[in-house]
Amino acid sequence: MESKTHIENDSSLKNAEQQIKRRTEEYKTLHEITKVLQKPDDLKTMLTNALTTLIGFQELEVEHKAGIFLIDSEQRVLNLLCTVGEFGEEFMEKEKQIPYGACLCGKAAVSGEFLTSDSCFSDARHEHTFKGMTDHGHYIVPLKNDDKVIGVLFLYTDKNPPWYIRKQEILVSICGLMAGAIVASLREQEIHEKNDQLKELNELKNKFLGIASHDLRNPLYLIKTFSEVMKDGTMGEVNKRQGESLQKIYNASLFMQDLLENLLDISQIESGKIDINKELQDFNACAQQQIELIQLLADKKKIKLNFDPGDLPEVPFDTRSINQVLGNFIGNAVKFSPPESKVLITTEKLDDSVRLSVHDEGPGLSEGDQQKLFQEFQTLTARPTGGEKSTGLGLAICKKLIHLHKGQVGVSSELEKGSTFYFSLPLS
Ligand SMILES: Nc1ncnc2c1ncn2[C@@H]1O[C@H](COP(=O)(O)OP(=O)(O)O)[C@@H](O)[C@H]1O
Ligand SMILES: [Mg+2]
Repeated sequence: MESKTHIENDSSLKNAEQQIKRRTEEYKTLHEITKVLQKPDDLKTMLTNALTTLIGFQELEVEHKAGIFLIDSEQRVLNLLCTVGEFGEEFMEKEKQIPYGACLCGKAAVSGEFLTSDSCFSDARHEHTFKGMTDHGHYIVPLKNDDKVIGVLFLYTDKNPPWYIRKQEILVSICGLMAGAIVASLREQEIHEKNDQLKELNELKNKFLGIASHDLRNPLYLIKTFSEVMKDGTMGEVNKRQGESLQKIYNASLFMQDLLENLLDISQIESGKIDINKELQDFNACAQQQIELIQLLADKKKIKLNFDPGDLPEVPFDTRSINQVLGNFIGNAVKFSPPESKVLITTEKLDDSVRLSVHDEGPGLSEGDQQKLFQEFQTLTARPTGGEKSTGLGLAICKKLIHLHKGQVGVSSELEKGSTFYFSLPLS
């Protein structure tokens, strides 16, 4: 009696030990597969690695042969994505694509149910046969994401294998992980493709912009020049009505010229055709020069530009680009501010950059407008106060030019309380 109890204890201890060993192996496999699925491999490599790990999981007692089909629900077919183990040429050719409902995998795709099959010879559902096929059993597991079958995984086993419910549960969890990874990977692939398409379209747009604005330049120049001399009476007297019409033609040609120049700038910057020649130089002197130029325009609105330069070291920048940025930042302050207001321009040295700010007493910008600033073709709530031209491209160009210098642009503003536009340039 005593010895029997001893044997029982002994065997239940062994049982428990075995259980612990199994669970440890299960967790290890799950962990390994999760790791494989998280790697940034392409879908086929990722799933092949996951399958290899899966068939190495001893508790499953499967053969070294497995594969995965992905479902094309529109065409109602299953496409073989990857296999591990040895499969003959005939198998690979015939199973490359199978219809819904065909053989075991096609059936699991339709029903979404987990299938086990004892023997490929005696199971009537196993319809496909191949030369030299030896008797084997199968696990067929639908790969489900949010209850939608997106693929089918098949594993070869010996014929009439022991089917334990525990094994099936583990397989279902692993296949759930795989399905999630497949969906994520397919989505990522789709985003990549869309991105490439967008890039291509953007390049095409730039090319088109470049050609169109280039070819329009000359005829526009003619319209501008002739309307200018005609309206001034240089080519013979014009009456009042003719003079007014010619003035309108001339104004429109100025606007178009501005727009064309901006479009050309954008297409050149975006297609990387712009030359940025950075030279170490005096930033304050450059600002001063632009301020003096813009003051001539500001005089028409009796707007006073004040400059308060900080102590700055020399800064590397491309003069032409920065003049353009200064022209637009300070030009905007004049353009959108009421007559007789003041504009203050300051410069300062920050940790590893210099910053120029333009403070104005204009209408300011709402939160919504601030979000849209610096994007192309944004003519926002504030309109020019002296009949100036507005294309909504200036700030977009400025941002691109400053980014080419690895600097930053920004604005702080409140409605009716003026705006401060600033940009920074790195010191090195
Ligand atoms: N200093 C400013 N104060 C108020 N609004 C401004 C200011 N600067 C720019 N904006 C707004 O941002 C828009 C875009 O400016 P920008 O890109 O330079 O184009 P544009 O000067 O051709 O209108 C302007 O149309 C205007 O509504
Ligand atoms: Mg502007």
